[in-house]
Parts: sequence; C-alpha cells; structure tokens
Amino acid sequence: MATARAYTNIALIKYWGKQDPQQMLPYNSSLSLTLDQFYTETKVEFLPKQTNQTADSFVFAGVAQPVSPKITRMLNLIRQAAGWSNFARVETENHVPTSAGLASSASAFAALAAAGAQAAGLQLSPRELSIFARHGSGSACRSIFGGFVVWHAGHDDQSSYAEPLLATVDFPIVVIAVLVDQRPKKVLSSAGMQQSVATSPFYPAWVQTAESGIATMSQAIAAHDIARIGQLAEANAMQMHATTLSAVPPFTYFAPMTLKIWQLVQEFRTKGLSCYITLDAGPNPKLLCAKQDAAAVVKKLQAALPQLQCTICQPGPGVAYRD
Ligand code: DP6
Repeated sequence: MATARAYTNIALIKYWGKQDPQQMLPYNSSLSLTLDQFYTETKVEFLPKQTNQTADSFVFAGVAQPVSPKITRMLNLIRQAAGWSNFARVETENHVPTSAGLASSASAFAALAAAGAQAAGLQLSPRELSIFARHGSGSACRSIFGGFVVWHAGHDDQSSYAEPLLATVDFPIVVIAVLVDQRPKKVLSSAGMQQSVATSPFYPAWVQTAESGIATMSQAIAAHDIARIGQLAEANAMQMHATTLSAVPPFTYFAPMTLKIWQLVQEFRTKGLSCYITLDAGPNPKLLCAKQDAAAVVKKLQAALPQLQCTICQPGPGVAYRD
C-alpha cells in the first residue's frame, strides 16, 4: 500500500496535440511551473489474490465511483511492469481551496502513477515515473517534478518524458488562479486538441512556434525575468487558443468573463503593474506576476469584478510519498 501527493502545474509553453494518441506522444515539447496550492492525494493498495474482490475499485472524496478506462490503463501498466495480476483499491482526494474548480488530471495521474508504482514495489527513476504518468494524462508527466519543468516531446515511449528545469525557484514569481466558472469543461482537452490538430490550418505553425518557445522561455527563466516569462507565456497561450478559433468548426474556451479579465490585465500593465495572463482548456485564467505585485493585482481585479475568487500560488514541489 502507498500514498502519494502531487501538485497541479500550469504550462507556460503548452502541450496541445498528440502525434500518437495511443502512446500519448505530443507534437511539441512543453514547459510548466508546478503550483503549491492544488494537489491530489491518492492511496493505492494491491489486494492479495485470495480476497474476493473481482475488479479494481475507486473511491473519490469518500464516495465509490466507477473505475475510468484511464485509471484501468494506468493500473495495467503498473501490473505489467511488476508482473502482477492483483486487483487494486484506489482512494483519492483533491485538495483545492473552497470549490475552486481547479482540480486537474495532471495532479491526479501523477499521484496515481507514483502511489501505484510504489505500492507494486517498482523501483522507478523520476524519469520512468514521469513516463508512466504521461500515459494517464500528458500534462501529468510534468507534475512529477517541482518548480519549472520541461516535457521533451520525444519520438517514442522512452524519449517522451519530463525533467526539472529549475526545481528550486529562487525568485519571486507567483501565479494568481482566478475562478470564473467551476462547471466541467464543455470540450475536454483531449477532444479539443484533436480537433485543432485535424482541422486548424494554423496547427503546423503552432508546433513550430511552441517548440522554439522552449529555448526562449528557458532563457527568460534563467535570467529570472518575470515580465519576459509573462509576455512569452501570454503569447504562447493565445497562439494555442488561435488553433481552436481556426478549427473547423471553430470553438473557444474563452468565456465573456475571461475576455474581461484579459482586458483588465492589459489595462493594469498600462498603469505599471507587470501582470500577464495564461489560459488552458477552460475559462479560468491564471495570471503571472511578481510576488510584490500580487496583492495589488487581486485588489484591482476584485474592485472591477467583486465576485471573482482568486488564489495566489507560489512554485510548488514535486511528487511526495506519505507513510
Ligand atoms: C491546455 O494533459 O489534460 O492544459 O493528455 O489528453 O489528458 P490529455 O490532456 P491534458 O492536456 C493539457 C492541455 C493544456 C496545456 C498543458 O497543460 O500543457
């Protein structure tokens, strides 16, 4: 039996599109920052053969749920590596501040891969664990590590993994998670990226720009240049979203409130606050800024839109085990 905790991450150069959906190989490399506020804790227990359990079981937030095909797939990978056929009992909890609607498949599959591998007695290197997590959800391979992380796209199962770029972040960058809507996504990220890949005439340009963005973003991180990191992350997010607006039929993850926040962020910049927006496959934006500006940004946002819930996140740690 083993319990692991993994934190969510926000991509500054995003993963958007699979060149091999079976192996979960992306078209482009991506770069993220692990956050310290939202995490998943998962316990996995492989049951002895003599128990009468005839399938895997899954308990989420204390309630029994059907075992999803993705969970089964991850457990099968672990069983295969361990040479086992025992069924597993999986218990998981998401820790997000006050119904923030920010639970993610990244923390979920990183925690499941880590707890499962440990429970099966596998001695995996962090890289091998990242490869396992990738099979649950692409972005999960980055949540194995803390701080700034790069996922190398690679060309096959073993060459597509994440590794730390800067595990201990010694400069004051923060991410403000803004809650616009906590309903489930209308277009799941896997379906959305598939539609962009298949139909957007801009998709090849996306892959090229994102891939070259890794080097530029890495330089900005090495220089501790928060404004540059923010500019590059905002540009990359909009380039990703351009592949949804240019898909056939077009679709978008922006909600009216998301656009409003983007406009406010642009206005804050004209007033001297260095603040940048990024957005994944849902309407809830994340704002990048220096720690000393975070309180002022939240205050201004809430003055304009009083109903907004904001959580200030700092760089977070990699996966950890609990006894
Ligand atoms: C927009 O990792 O959720 O958040 O691999 O299909 O499970 P699957 O997708 P997922 O996609 C994340 C997409 C993104 C960008 C990113 O996190 O890099």
